Amino acid sequence: MAPDADAFLILLGVRTPFPNQPWTDRDRCLDRRGVSPPPKLGRFLPAFCAVFTMVGCRGPQSALDPAGTDAAIIADLFWGMAIAGFVIWLAMTGLTLHASSPKRARAASPRWRRNLVVGGTGVTTLLLAVLVTLGLRPFPQLLARGDPDAVKLRIVGEQWWWRVEYILPSGERLAAANEIRLPAGRRTHLDLEAADVIHSFWVPSLAGKIDMIPGQTTSLGLEPTRTGSFRGVCAEYCGSSHAQMLFRAVVVEPDAFEAWLQHEAAPARSPEPGSLAEQGRQRFVELGCTACHTIRGTVAHGVIGPDLTHVGSRETVGAGLLDNDVAGFEEWLAETERLKPGVHMPAFAMLAPEARHALSIYLDSLQ
Ligand code: CUA
Repeated sequence: MAPDADAFLILLGVRTPFPNQPWTDRDRCLDRRGVSPPPKLGRFLPAFCAVFTMVGCRGPQSALDPAGTDAAIIADLFWGMAIAGFVIWLAMTGLTLHASSPKRARAASPRWRRNLVVGGTGVTTLLLAVLVTLGLRPFPQLLARGDPDAVKLRIVGEQWWWRVEYILPSGERLAAANEIRLPAGRRTHLDLEAADVIHSFWVPSLAGKIDMIPGQTTSLGLEPTRTGSFRGVCAEYCGSSHAQMLFRAVVVEPDAFEAWLQHEAAPARSPEPGSLAEQGRQRFVELGCTACHTIRGTVAHGVIGPDLTHVGSRETVGAGLLDNDVAGFEEWLAETERLKPGVHMPAFAMLAPEARHALSIYLDSLQ
């Protein structure tokens, strides 16, 4: 193998830098017989790791698979920086190999000292200045706000769920929770707050992340470019169930968004008299769920927990934890503490399974 290729494999961690100390006894035997040891899986670990980490670069929760203008700017910035970093790494590797060759080791001439000063300080400073300038360039666009046609939302991070309010052009506020629905191709402006501790709002596919700070309002603009359901997360450690503080951003066509908004503004559907859902509604009242939750059009006016007026129409139950269906509601009601340690809502494990089932049917019917 050519010496340069050898050096390259050493830098990648694939080949041992100590030719007299082979990796294993087996290699030693093979070397003694003058046979090169075959490549081993472990030696290619860095390359494997790189490939497998790249597998996570697509899908509904990837900043590198953008579905919004702001996320696209950030993804471009990432690739620009990654490519620049790779080119710099290659150049530095080449220079290091060149300089450490036995011939060069002795040559500490004035010319080399000059190269060191120019290369080590001048070129480095210039490169950093260029990269910082390129990195800061998109910021005015990312922080732009004040679009009068933007959809306006207020989102409050709470341990461990998301209070959502649509601020309609009339000034009226429409409460929802744990899911935001957005029109494709239109700007959305989000005012972000926190009720208890610092949280951070992040839908990697749509935009960058921004902290939600108690006592302050931060804001974020985003503009989805394609429809789909994207995963959002809390990106700031906020307590025992930080990892269970998830949500969905569902992007739909503008017409479908307007229709959805009208439906969302309507009060909850009443269950058929005598139905299982009606029994569930009675349970909801008897158990005192109304103290914490609002279901518009009913006696439930609690504001401690999520608004449940149209909870059945959301994609998930428990802020991104379970599928939104009867089984999902049943599991959530029985095991809130296991699913979300530290959650304020008590588990209703003491309820008879039939009662929990009726309650779940009612919640699922709130479309
Ligand atoms: Cu909220 Cu982490």
